[in-house]
Amino acid sequence: MSLPCPADRAACVAWVDVSSITAQDASAWASRLPQAERDRFARYRHPLSAQQFLVGRLLIRSWLESLTGTAAAAWELKAGERGRPEIASPPSPWSFNLTHSGNLVACVLSSVAQVGVDLEDLDRRPLTRDLAQRFCAPAEVADIERRPEAEQTHRFLAYWTLKEAYLKARGIGVAVHLADLEFTLAGEHPTINFRESLVGTSRDWAFALFQPLPRYLLSVAVPQVAGSPRPDITVSPVTLDALTTR
Ligand SMILES: CC(C)(COP(=O)(O)OP(=O)(O)OC[C@H]1O[C@@H](n2cnc3c(N)ncnc32)[C@H](O)[C@@H]1OP(=O)(O)O)[C@@H](O)C(=O)NCCC(=O)NCCS
Repeated sequence: MSLPCPADRAACVAWVDVSSITAQDASAWASRLPQAERDRFARYRHPLSAQQFLVGRLLIRSWLESLTGTAAAAWELKAGERGRPEIASPPSPWSFNLTHSGNLVACVLSSVAQVGVDLEDLDRRPLTRDLAQRFCAPAEVADIERRPEAEQTHRFLAYWTLKEAYLKARGIGVAVHLADLEFTLAGEHPTINFRESLVGTSRDWAFALFQPLPRYLLSVAVPQVAGSPRPDITVSPVTLDALTTR
């Protein structure tokens, strides 16, 4: 499967399952990365973390190459203000963000600046009441607690990924109190409301929540120009072959 091409003002997410990668594959593919990323790959102690990093960088680099013809390794990616990785050169209209959890790695790419994406493995993080109270707005906590116990972790992680996608789009982290970001999941698309410390923040964002595989939730945040149509947000799988055989 080839890498999707984002239309103007739309955002595309591509995700890859890394579970079939062997240590040998990973070492061979790392040679496609620029030296600084190869060094970082070599520093990971946990093989899955190394593979997640490797595949994330192969994904964005292969995608940029397929859109522009500029070789994957020629793109310079730099941590911008607040540590958010961005394209430093060559000049391009693209904004991207990466996420990984368990065996999945995903990247959102868009011509809209400042997009964010977050993945969570539903099997990874059992919900405790304390977690919901700490990170969710009162209306979100009430919505989670209204659900049967078996559905509560899923609902919590839906809110969690939306909050993280928004924070990652903005490149802001610990400075924000997560419970002041309040999402509503009642309509066709998730919507955001800013509370307390965040009152007055711009609401011009479009969000989407997906379940690419039964075990994973994925949320995307895309800035929306006030009064213009909602950006189209699509998600599709890509194979490791699409990243490693060009
Ligand atoms: C840095 C941070 C964004 C990573 O998020 P995460 O959920 O642990 O990990 P994800 O897999 O979703 O994302 C990791 C990728 O995000 C990207 N990233 C790194 N710093 C980022 C930042 N400041 N903003 C946006 N994206 C960032 C990187 O591409 C990274 O992957 P790579 O290093 O392999 O290239 C996260 O630690 C953070 O600051 N989150 C903000 C929300 C927060 O404070 N939550 C409370 C935690 S208790």
